[in-house]
Amino acid sequence: MQDSTAAPDMVVTRRLTGRRVTADHLDYMLEVEGDIRVAQWLYGIQSPEQSRGRLDRWMRMWRETGLGFWIFEDSDRRLVGHGGLFNSPREAGEVEVGYVVKPAYWGRGLATEITLAALKIGFESLGLQRIIGIAQSANAPSRRVLEKCGMIFETEFASPDGRPGVRYAIAKRMWPG
Ligand SMILES: CC(C)(COP(=O)(O)OP(=O)(O)OC[C@H]1O[C@@H](n2cnc3c(N)ncnc32)[C@H](O)[C@@H]1OP(=O)(O)O)[C@@H](O)C(=O)NCCC(=O)NCCS
Repeated sequence: MQDSTAAPDMVVTRRLTGRRVTADHLDYMLEVEGDIRVAQWLYGIQSPEQSRGRLDRWMRMWRETGLGFWIFEDSDRRLVGHGGLFNSPREAGEVEVGYVVKPAYWGRGLATEITLAALKIGFESLGLQRIIGIAQSANAPSRRVLEKCGMIFETEFASPDGRPGVRYAIAKRMWPG
């Protein structure tokens, strides 16, 4: 059941199909969250228990807020990454965009494609006025994704873990539509 205040369960981009995360995505979560090349920019390597817990929280988030992550597959049905919208845990009242691509698929523009799809849904289906993106300051590829999506650097801040972070944002009036 879909309502107008909830993001759609499925999103199709030029090269990818994203599906709302379900319990069937546990293997994907374990692979991605156990890979240091990805984990170093997120919450560090996660144990299987931690990944199971996060998957449960992500599914609950969809049910409770109508926002969340899609897991994206390519035309060969290989799971290549995830991305989506969520209420920012760091910035009260803001909706944040997040994205991850498996290392084997880096450098092909897939994260940009995923992020643009999430922004489009946020502005054109959900009527959001503003969406933010947060990255570690040192995460150059992630910052580049935000810039390529038209998001503007706003501020640098100290994360609770001590590593500097940056916030980017885009307002609906800046969205090309
Ligand atoms: C960040 C991430 C999602 C990017 O995925 P991707 O599919 O490779 O991204 P894209 O191909 O759309 O764009 C990456 C851009 O960064 C650039 N880039 C890559 N490495 C770079 C570096 N060391 N310095 C500067 N730019 C870099 C690429 O050249 C590309 O820009 P371009 O199109 O102008 O050439 C991926 O690296 C990832 O999942 N990282 C781990 C998790 C993560 O950091 N997620 C974001 C959390 S905020």
